[in-house]
Amino acid sequence: MQNQKLVIEGGHKLSGEVRVQGAKNSSLPIIAASLMCQGETVLKNCPALSDTYASCRILTHLGCECRFSGNTLTVKPDGLNSYEIPDDLMHEMRSSIIYMGALLGACGKCCLSFPGGCELGPRPIDMHLSAMKKMGASVKDEFGIIECMADKGLHGTKITLRYPSVGTTENIILAAVKAKGETIIVNAAREPEIVDLALFLNKCGGKIKGAGNSTVVIEGVEKLHGCMHYIMPDRIAAATYISAAASTNGEINIIGIDSNLCDSFISVFEQMGCNVYIYDGCIYVNAKKTLKSVNKIITMPHPGFPTDAQAIVMAVLCKAEGNSIFEENIFENRYRHVDALVKMGADIKVIGKVAVINGVKKLYGAKVSATDLRGGAAMAVAGLGAEGTTEISDISHIDRGYENFESVIASMGGKIKRI
Ligand code: EPU
Repeated sequence: MQNQKLVIEGGHKLSGEVRVQGAKNSSLPIIAASLMCQGETVLKNCPALSDTYASCRILTHLGCECRFSGNTLTVKPDGLNSYEIPDDLMHEMRSSIIYMGALLGACGKCCLSFPGGCELGPRPIDMHLSAMKKMGASVKDEFGIIECMADKGLHGTKITLRYPSVGTTENIILAAVKAKGETIIVNAAREPEIVDLALFLNKCGGKIKGAGNSTVVIEGVEKLHGCMHYIMPDRIAAATYISAAASTNGEINIIGIDSNLCDSFISVFEQMGCNVYIYDGCIYVNAKKTLKSVNKIITMPHPGFPTDAQAIVMAVLCKAEGNSIFEENIFENRYRHVDALVKMGADIKVIGKVAVINGVKKLYGAKVSATDLRGGAAMAVAGLGAEGTTEISDISHIDRGYENFESVIASMGGKIKRI
């Protein structure tokens, strides 16, 4: 797996229809949440990704039963017999930190290793820890191991976040759903994936109000039971396939998507000169006109422009007429794809958190290495619209977030293969 590469022959217009996969950033916390529910949980539209398999390995290690077949994940947590996640499993995916809230909620304790920094830069968990403390957990953080204990159970409280962190909001919801009393999160993250988590937990018997707003109120319940839940569509996968089509001046119809999830980036493609039509759970994009530069794109928490779409949209703008500017405000180190794009002929200057793209006429295929999930996808988007062959190594990053990436692209006429 480790030495696999994607080889892309650029210059073929993409055209066709794509059913967008289930959202990774919704399924991962929901899979973790399933360990708190008695009986069977059935998750439909669960994306087949390496991060999903990593989640299954964590659940299995904890004593739960997991079965994954044809995008349906069935979890039976009745055999839960551990509250410790070993280092190797914790490090398989960054979002393993979400097991802190889930395990505290399920058994009143957890022992995890510190997830550490990642390809996007330092990823502190101070807000997660201080929230768990506020809810009554004692937290010991020594030699990279975090032990949280709540012998008397967690209790509700008011938690004001200094920043609307997605993971912290999810961890608090998970810890609070079975805590004693009411928890209020002020300045909560408003991402749609948080709404999906709350929807799931409410189906399981939870009492969560306000998800998707800045204030979320969770009234603790005694028990949760399993349910059947359909994972929401992946808005970032939709943005990626739209970008891939735009990069080749092609046309694409995304099906199975709620266009409201995509408001923050659809307007950017319209500014580029793409025709976008929204109808009945579909987004049709025609990018046959010459692409134009766009107004400054500033990544922000939802409903702002998503940081996860920054690299892939930048890959399209490399060939747009004029100058485009990005300001990355969420992660310190989210321009690592820029070197690869420059190697392919792009004109990009990065100064701190600002990137200035001066559109060029052509990109050229090159040998590049995926730096992170979305950065790797951006290289593929650029490669599809480039002259010549692009070879992307380290594609395990891409496999973390895209289901059958090359088959989807190939189904629209892209010349791409995995070697
Ligand atoms: N932060 C802190 N302290 C904390 C927690 C976060 O300083 O205790 C900082 C982070 O360092 C970062 C910022 O807050 O600078 C935002 O982090 P957040 O907690 O919102 O992000 P996350 O939960 O770690 C999720 C997604 C990311 C996505 C971000 C922002 C999942 C599994 N991951 O990460 O997705 O970029 O929210 O929207 O939901 C991706 O899919 O490619 C990806 C990286």
